Amino acid sequence: MPFYHKLGDIPRVKHTAFLKPDGKSLYREELVSSKGFSGIYSNLYHIHLPTELKKSRPLPPRKNVDWPEAPVLWMHFFTDKMQSKGNFITARNVFLRNPHCIISTAHPGEDTDDFYRNAYGAEYVFIHHGSGTFLSEYGKIRFEPGDQFIIPRAVTHQFKFDTYGGNKMLIVESDTAFEIPNHYRTDYGQFAEHAPYAERDFKPPHEIEPQDEAGEFRVVLKAGDKYFEHIVPHHPFDVVGWDGYLFPFAFNIRSFHPKVGRIHLPPPVHLVFKTGHFIMCNFNPRPFDWYPNAIPAPYYHSNIDSDEVLYYVEGDFMSRKGVEEGSITLHPGGMPHGPQPGKTEESIGAKGTEEYAIMIDTYSPLRPTLNVRKTLDEGYAQSWLAE
Ligand SMILES: [Fe+2]
Repeated sequence: MPFYHKLGDIPRVKHTAFLKPDGKSLYREELVSSKGFSGIYSNLYHIHLPTELKKSRPLPPRKNVDWPEAPVLWMHFFTDKMQSKGNFITARNVFLRNPHCIISTAHPGEDTDDFYRNAYGAEYVFIHHGSGTFLSEYGKIRFEPGDQFIIPRAVTHQFKFDTYGGNKMLIVESDTAFEIPNHYRTDYGQFAEHAPYAERDFKPPHEIEPQDEAGEFRVVLKAGDKYFEHIVPHHPFDVVGWDGYLFPFAFNIRSFHPKVGRIHLPPPVHLVFKTGHFIMCNFNPRPFDWYPNAIPAPYYHSNIDSDEVLYYVEGDFMSRKGVEEGSITLHPGGMPHGPQPGKTEESIGAKGTEEYAIMIDTYSPLRPTLNVRKTLDEGYAQSWLAE
């Protein structure tokens, strides 16, 4: 996580009695720990026991969207053609997956009182369209288009949009934590001067309002492909304060400070987050390479051990024809790709780009789902044939 943060009321010394205002009963300390007590952690102070559970039951499995006979090919598909009814939990459509990474989009069209917790995965959630408030036991974060949420595994949360209509999210689940690349940090963890962001560019939870409410609260727990309903007897956001390094936060794509060079620089300069099995990049408006006759469009390349996924956010995409906002391209590892005919020549002498895009490069091959088949640009694999 980006840095140490503290919100609300906490005892001066951890693991000591922290008394409620009645002077007798205790707030309940919960250590949320990673890597078996050796990784980053936070200490949360609950009004009620965090372990309370009234009842639980498995929920029906989601529709199987596997596409076992999917070809290994360059693919382009339009995620906005796949819109499901539902809320921020139920409206998700999975497009690409491997054992470590699941890529979905959602157009949440309705609110819900349900809480969501991904027990086996950390989640990256990009707000393409919509604004509202993210709520969790760690507090609130206001969001707007462009915000990229990092939600560690097992954070109970809700996305409350200001209005319902036209909202869009890109969701990337990971079986390992999303982290800031080590080379962006100094020995002491501070962001290095050459990093594409600084501490003040990040949005941690900024307001905590502990809820002391009894009732029946429904938490939807995701564990791999399985979903469960947990009914808990107190509002899950009953935390009066917490501190530590493990917490949800947002970072807006517009806050990424891109690097430029006099000849083409490769994607690692656009790196924003890493996990154990894939990396993510932010592509932002930036001036182009200025060396005489420099070619700003990328060269043809074979990234032999990564699948490359690009989600197109907005602007004019310099190396692709036919892509739209909400398009995804998948360029499988071990196959060359690059600009489509005419795009290399078009880029020579161009002064800059206004594009916003998000890249996900996975070290294991991704499997497209039936949602890809339903939204596919059929001619894409032939789009490099000469005009
Ligand atoms: Fe590429």
